[in-house]
Amino acid sequence: MNYPYQIKSYEQYKADYKKSIEQPEAFWAEIATHFTWRKKWDKVLEWNFTEPKIEWFKGGKLNITENCIDRHLATMGDKPAIIWEPNNPEERVRIVTYNRLHKRVCQFAQVLLNNGVKKGDRVCIYMGMVPELAYAVLGCARIGAIHSVIFGGFSAQSIADRLDDAQAEFIVTCDGAYRGEKVIPLKSVIDDALVGNKTIKRVIVYTRTRTPISMIKGRDVWWEDEMEYAEHQVEKDGIVSLPAVEMDAEDPLFILYTSGSTGKPKGVVHSTAGYMIWTNYTFINTFQYNKGDVHFCTADIGWITGHSYIVYGPLSAGATSLMFEGIPTYPDAGRFWDIVEKHKVNILYTAPTAIRSLMSFGLVPLGGKDLSSLKILGTVGEPINEEAWHWYDENVGKKKCPIVDTWWQTETGGCLITNLAGVTPAKPSWATLPMPGVQPILVDEKGEEVTEKDENGVIKGNLCIKAPWPSILRTTYGDHERCRTNYFATYPNLYFTGDGALKDEEGFYRITGRVDDVLNVSGHRIGTAEVENALNMHSGIVESAVVGYPHDIKGQGIYAFVICNHFHGGEEQTRKDILQTITRVIGAIAKPDKIQFVNGLPKTRSGKIMRRILRKIAEGETGSIGDTSTLLDPNIVDDIVQGRL
Ligand code: PRX
Repeated sequence: MNYPYQIKSYEQYKADYKKSIEQPEAFWAEIATHFTWRKKWDKVLEWNFTEPKIEWFKGGKLNITENCIDRHLATMGDKPAIIWEPNNPEERVRIVTYNRLHKRVCQFAQVLLNNGVKKGDRVCIYMGMVPELAYAVLGCARIGAIHSVIFGGFSAQSIADRLDDAQAEFIVTCDGAYRGEKVIPLKSVIDDALVGNKTIKRVIVYTRTRTPISMIKGRDVWWEDEMEYAEHQVEKDGIVSLPAVEMDAEDPLFILYTSGSTGKPKGVVHSTAGYMIWTNYTFINTFQYNKGDVHFCTADIGWITGHSYIVYGPLSAGATSLMFEGIPTYPDAGRFWDIVEKHKVNILYTAPTAIRSLMSFGLVPLGGKDLSSLKILGTVGEPINEEAWHWYDENVGKKKCPIVDTWWQTETGGCLITNLAGVTPAKPSWATLPMPGVQPILVDEKGEEVTEKDENGVIKGNLCIKAPWPSILRTTYGDHERCRTNYFATYPNLYFTGDGALKDEEGFYRITGRVDDVLNVSGHRIGTAEVENALNMHSGIVESAVVGYPHDIKGQGIYAFVICNHFHGGEEQTRKDILQTITRVIGAIAKPDKIQFVNGLPKTRSGKIMRRILRKIAEGETGSIGDTSTLLDPNIVDDIVQGRL
């Protein structure tokens, strides 16, 4: 059998689901036995959502890299762990076997030790999509250092805030990263982030683009030099190896910053054993992975999708994970299809925004491409509209590949609600059924379970989860209270996702989107408060309010209403200056699509901005925009509607 805990039929799904709810400890204990432990756990689960305190496999000892690498070596050492496809299709593909991965991870772990990194230390990783990024992540895990990967699109200021929050002392970066035609000067961004920084002891720089960079004596070292030196240290009888550090099941594995409804991103903390088991279990079941399949997740490792379904999930399953450095439209919009053909990809996992963007190029880029290796398609990150779903199904899957619509979050570590490819039913634009171990509940504003159905038999409410699954976040770094108030205090004894959802008569779920002040732009999570804070830093801006609006490609666009008292060089120039401010403060991903200059914002008498009204205006509502009678100055609304972009 392929994997003993792979669900092979709808009936088995139902039986496993039932067992996972009725006897969660027995259910997960059985699955956990299929992993490599240094010491078995004492207790499978202890939890309460009030503190919150969640412990899975307490007392168990392990190292996740032994599960992702070492245990595969005897039987699969020469099989590809990572296939790396470069930005430029003319450049050489790299195939990293499990043996090679083991060598490189051990070597890099030694580099970290040589540079003073100890168990529990935070290491910030700001790299492009090169195999060395995977070595860096796993090298940290090998010695028990906590990695905090930052997406290459974030600005120096964002990095500085994250370094400070995590009290990180080490950075791993690249000179630059290729992204389509552009070269992103990563090291130079790091240098800006480090101006005035006194805590960073070491910056390790991998050479990718050979962009000229500044190397500071005593602080900055080259990856290549360090690796060469380390190789001799860890080599014995021709074999490069470094023992993995024994970790507690609940020791933190990584921090990943994500946006919430407040202005400051939170450092979501994931544990070791629970995260490992969940990413492995969901990878094998959602994608129905079979040994030897090539799995292509198009995400960046800077986001949770890359952590869970490029690195930890696939590697713990001994899979072949395809890692792509470029963008879907370079050198042309046929890039994904070329990769599928070239590497005989079996599973393609991407975001609705990428599908919509490729749809806009029509069918020409697909012409003549052999996609017959594809067996399973997946989407993640945002609701998928039916049109995109059918386009994907017909033109990419040729109507023979099941599509999994996987709903989950940075905080959940892996998929929570999704169909299992070809095993449980799919329904376009519905994420469908919960994974075993996941107990969703839809509640109203007061936290009462919604049971009333509409005329179509559908229940609508705020999506919460009743009990912990193994990879639920454990805390937000350095501020446990923030974790409690954000996720566990809105509704007592429930984890609140921040999403709204529908449930149909079959018990299928459809995620309708965020119900808090969080936007989902091209599958990237951005807090409106974060964008407003950045806007308000611009010298001419007095006040601002940011809302989302439907965008054909991005899913949601960012609409900023801005009161500006000084237009230096005119309105158009000021708009450009404001965009530059956003790029500096957060990063280009948070640039508003529309900036409307207004004379005032709709506020209640107590001074609260009525976002409901702004949202309607941004959405292009032509009819009523709702009750404005409670506003301090209702006339402001007419002005804003007049000036709508
Ligand atoms: O609103 C949901 C949306 O993305 C949010 C989580 O974003 P992030 O933490 O960045 O993780 C994205 C990758 C897992 C959710 O709160 N979302 C994610 N997947 C789906 C989705 N919305 C609808 N359908 C999905 N399949």
